[in-house]
Amino acid sequence: MMPGKWSTAFTQQQKAWLRRVAPHLVSSLLNWWQRHGRRDLPWRLLPDGRQPGPDDLLPVYPVWVAEVMLQQTRLTVALPFWRRWRSRFPDLESLAAASRQEVLHCWQGLGYYVRARRLHEAAIRLAAAGRSLPTDRAGLEQLPGLGRTTAAAIAATVGNSPDPILDGNVQRVLARLLAFPAPPRQAGPLFWTMVELLLDHRGARDFNQALMDLGALVCRPRAPLCQGCPWQSHCHAYGKGIQRQLPVRQAPAPIPRVMVGVGIVLDHRGKVLIGQRQPDGLLGGLWEFPGGKQEPGETMAETVARELQEEVGLTVAAGPELLRFDHAYTHRRLTFAAYLCRVLAGEARPVASQQVAWVWPRDLRHYPFPAAHARMVQALGEHLGGA
Ligand code: ADE
Repeated sequence: MMPGKWSTAFTQQQKAWLRRVAPHLVSSLLNWWQRHGRRDLPWRLLPDGRQPGPDDLLPVYPVWVAEVMLQQTRLTVALPFWRRWRSRFPDLESLAAASRQEVLHCWQGLGYYVRARRLHEAAIRLAAAGRSLPTDRAGLEQLPGLGRTTAAAIAATVGNSPDPILDGNVQRVLARLLAFPAPPRQAGPLFWTMVELLLDHRGARDFNQALMDLGALVCRPRAPLCQGCPWQSHCHAYGKGIQRQLPVRQAPAPIPRVMVGVGIVLDHRGKVLIGQRQPDGLLGGLWEFPGGKQEPGETMAETVARELQEEVGLTVAAGPELLRFDHAYTHRRLTFAAYLCRVLAGEARPVASQQVAWVWPRDLRHYPFPAAHARMVQALGEHLGGA
């Protein structure tokens, strides 16, 4: 049994407990992983397809791309995107030479587009300086978008360096193993101390992957599969029967709902108006139909007409409604209402966006759109196709 009460650092007694159980935790985890883990991820193999030995170095570029994709995306979702990216941008040089638009287009559907922009930015910076990607954690942490955990995951995968990781999956595993009674972010350095103590220094590549796989495949957020868990006999949450209640969740901030009116403006030729967002911020550089938030007292059609005047300088007649749907982001819930619009007066100009373009509806698929707007592109295609 683990002794003592929790604070943000281990007591001497708790450290002694951990040192005592660590060898069993490590060996049982690695045994489990040999049988059930994801050992054949394509970026974890040598270029000739063999499993790497402890002293082998893996190419860093594919691992870097994979770990950035995996920051906010599950492995099964990320894998096809990773393959597509690898065939489109096989190395750092091809990524550096690509346009922002090509990069965002290849990322389309993965979300959190700032990740793609940062990969691109890093590639351009390194190429301009004539440097290659670093392979050590300290060097990787200098790149845009890489915190300690992602840098450590890359370094340990590439060179088997003794760098522990602590991502959301690993935090959940530790919170349950220790039956930690508060949200993980209140653990302070405690969880880092724990992964440092547990790390298998000769086999960090496999150990880190095994820990992530345990979190993703067994110690799952909602329905942990404790019967198949190699750590069951040491797990304090399991011992108390409270694994489903852990980790303790931070009380969520209320999520506001926002109504957004969008104008799908067709000109007399049948071309449709789109604008490109400013380069930075959430969804920066992506294309979209013009529109914006509903103000108090407005009908949706009024919102669309006002937004088009403000955003692209067009006076339009808004209506009929093409479609309406809800779309949830992490911190906001949006309801989009898209209106077909006719131009009454004005010339479209980029007041709030980088640029505007009139494009044939069939060419919209060549532009990168956020998921909500991609849905409107599809609805427009069906509307025009069915007309
Ligand atoms: N999440 C982040 N990196 C991961 C990896 N290498 N395998 C599985 N899940 C991950």
